[in-house]
Amino acid sequence: MMQFISNKGGGSPVDFETAILDGFAVDGGLYVPTHLPKISKEQLIAWKGLGYIDLAFEILSLFIDRSVISETELKEVLRKAYAPFEKDEVIPLHKLKSKKDTYIMELFYGPTISFKDVGLAFLVNLVDFFLKRKNEFKTIIVATTGDTGPATAHFSAGKSNLSAWVLYPKGLITEEQERQMTTLPHANIHPVGVSNCPDGCDDLDLVIAKLYANLPFKDKVHLSSVNSINWGRIMMQTVHYFYGYLQVVDTIGKKINMSVPSGAFGNLCAGGLARKMGLPVDTFVVANNTNACLHGIFSKGIFEKKPIIETPSSAIDILIPYNFWRFLYFCIDEDATKIKAWSDEFIATGKVTFDAKTHASYAEGFKSASMSDEQTLDIIKHIYETENYLLDPHGAVAVAALEVLKDYLGDKKMICLATAHPAKFPEVTKAALELKTMPDAGKHDSIEKAKTQCEKVYLCDHSHLEEALLNVMEADWDLKHTN
Ligand SMILES: Cc1ncc(COP(=O)(O)O)c(C=O)c1O
Repeated sequence: MMQFISNKGGGSPVDFETAILDGFAVDGGLYVPTHLPKISKEQLIAWKGLGYIDLAFEILSLFIDRSVISETELKEVLRKAYAPFEKDEVIPLHKLKSKKDTYIMELFYGPTISFKDVGLAFLVNLVDFFLKRKNEFKTIIVATTGDTGPATAHFSAGKSNLSAWVLYPKGLITEEQERQMTTLPHANIHPVGVSNCPDGCDDLDLVIAKLYANLPFKDKVHLSSVNSINWGRIMMQTVHYFYGYLQVVDTIGKKINMSVPSGAFGNLCAGGLARKMGLPVDTFVVANNTNACLHGIFSKGIFEKKPIIETPSSAIDILIPYNFWRFLYFCIDEDATKIKAWSDEFIATGKVTFDAKTHASYAEGFKSASMSDEQTLDIIKHIYETENYLLDPHGAVAVAALEVLKDYLGDKKMICLATAHPAKFPEVTKAALELKTMPDAGKHDSIEKAKTQCEKVYLCDHSHLEEALLNVMEADWDLKHTN
């Protein structure tokens, strides 16, 4: 039976359902499976040709025991999750004309047009399935750099067993992203715009960690999270790596490269785990903007918190890539004691320098790069002008990194992950293209529609966020659950 434990070693093993519904492990660590399933070449050959949902079913079944959810139920959750996606393929691949063997994995055809839809469509529907079955209620809370919030809100909207609180750093996400959260009329969705966050979204994550640590409060409101602290997000995100690989290779077993715009390292943690499970990837490009914590971790072996810089790819303006701790656990013989010691050191000093052996153990097969604003904007313009294809600023970071690393990467097939639709970032897009209005390729009906809806939002200053949330979330709980 597959069980889940904390990567910091505290608490007892739990089953899949508990890991999903709790979010964080009891000691504040991140849940990891007790073992990673291994996928053989024969298995990959058998999977070639499967559609996204059928492939997802096969991969998820390796992590989820049938006693937790039956075959029919899991298929139904998957069907329901991906029904609102615009494309039958769910995540189509687009081949660039001007770069040899380079594909864009378009992860933005969900309802809130970012890759967060891909993980959250499944996770929120799964949480809802478990809660309905137990006849229980959960308060979920997430912090967002602009994409997790809209996706969480969208998939939670109207679900009677869930109340969703979505916190965003006001002024540091685009108006379009903000409206995706604030224009939902549903009574169970509570966007919270937080002013004066000196460290952006990372400040909000810290407040969430404090709410979790407040056990009487956590237990009272049945607090959980669907941020990428939740194992369900990482597990679901392994699927798109397998899917992309199977779409582009002619011969199974042949290695390819993949480039991933990265912030909290949730997406790439899933990629790294997919490779440990058996996916033939030679190099993962860790594509950072100038908030380059991951670049420091991979290139120098130093995990260090630096001040935030505002960039055109604002959704990856993240200072602490917390999912790195989850990936590292699998690289150091699952030694939770070390993870706990390093993360305590990081909390105390803001910096950890890894020894050479540890650095080598996690950095193998990764190559990092930090892209400047100029490089990001230039590649948007270049790809648009040469082949009439519009990248969003995050996909652009992934593609720009290829230019810088081209000698290192050689001539293997390459998949770049495009994690959002440009319609979420009109100002950056127009600036990159030096245009006054957005071209049609950069528009999306859902964004246009949100411009004409009423907004409903809590506003709060960061200095008193924790106390304010304790009050308002408890009041919301009492309102629903007294009588
Ligand atoms: C558009 C976009 N691209 C990339 C990322 C980075 O993903 P991760 O935080 O999992 O590294 C995010 C989220 O933070 C995002 O919203």
